[in-house]
Amino acid sequence: MPANRFNNFTDYGVGIGLRVPHYEHIFSKKPVVDWFEIISENYMIDDGRPLRLLDQILDQYRVVQHGVSMYFGSAQELNPDHLRRIKELTRRTKTPWLSDHLCWGSVDGRYTHDLLPLPYTFEAVRTTAERIRQVQDTLEIPVAVENVSSYAEYHESEMTEWEFLNEVIHAADCGILLDVNNIYVSSQNHSFDPAVYVDAVPAERVAQIHIAGHSKFEKYILDTHDHPVLDPVWALYARAIDRIGPTATLLEWDDNIPSFDEVHNEALKANKYLKAAADKIAAAANQPEEVLA
Ligand SMILES: [Fe+2]
Repeated sequence: MPANRFNNFTDYGVGIGLRVPHYEHIFSKKPVVDWFEIISENYMIDDGRPLRLLDQILDQYRVVQHGVSMYFGSAQELNPDHLRRIKELTRRTKTPWLSDHLCWGSVDGRYTHDLLPLPYTFEAVRTTAERIRQVQDTLEIPVAVENVSSYAEYHESEMTEWEFLNEVIHAADCGILLDVNNIYVSSQNHSFDPAVYVDAVPAERVAQIHIAGHSKFEKYILDTHDHPVLDPVWALYARAIDRIGPTATLLEWDDNIPSFDEVHNEALKANKYLKAAADKIAAAANQPEEVLA
């Protein structure tokens, strides 16, 4: 397992999300898969069938934890019980990093279960980074924050989304889960160039990349995770990998889930771009050194 050339995150290869409809196939056929991403919240229980099945997966596969309810950007304090349960699960899975979203979604103890975009302000940078640091310190593993897709913007914003991401990860000293589908969806909804976003992301901070399918409507694009990856998203992925180098890549498919093989084969298309990036790095390493006059 090579470390990424540009950072300290191990390149796990190409994975898919662990989903219940695929359990039977996985346990009976034991397919070769580089790694699975699990949704932490599905396994934050004291005991029971989900944990027993997870243990069987852990016996054979590498697993990385992804969360959907940390709400780093919410104004309220982090829930200590939630953190304790997450930490217990990280010890069980031995996840190399933990990802969750750069968003807010809770107010005064009430949870929206939505991944809401933040205002891109310096105040939000400060409070969000503080919470990410708190989570990293508690869990004692790196945190990678994921850019969300968005459908609304704030008048209060003082910078672009990619500038905000940069400010937060440097203030928090954390990693990035770069979702190129989310970048594409937001770029279409808010009329910015997605290539500019990808080019602005610090390569040394990217732990993982998400790819996914989305749905296009007349006036907006929705991040539905129910389709194969569309060509503009593959193009953005290729651009990201070319800059960042081979990086752990994960296909998200959460609705209208097809067979295991269909999902896995879609994910494995990423290998074409990963190989091209690895070849480019190898070719650069074989170049004769420049002779100085
Ligand atoms: Fe994602």
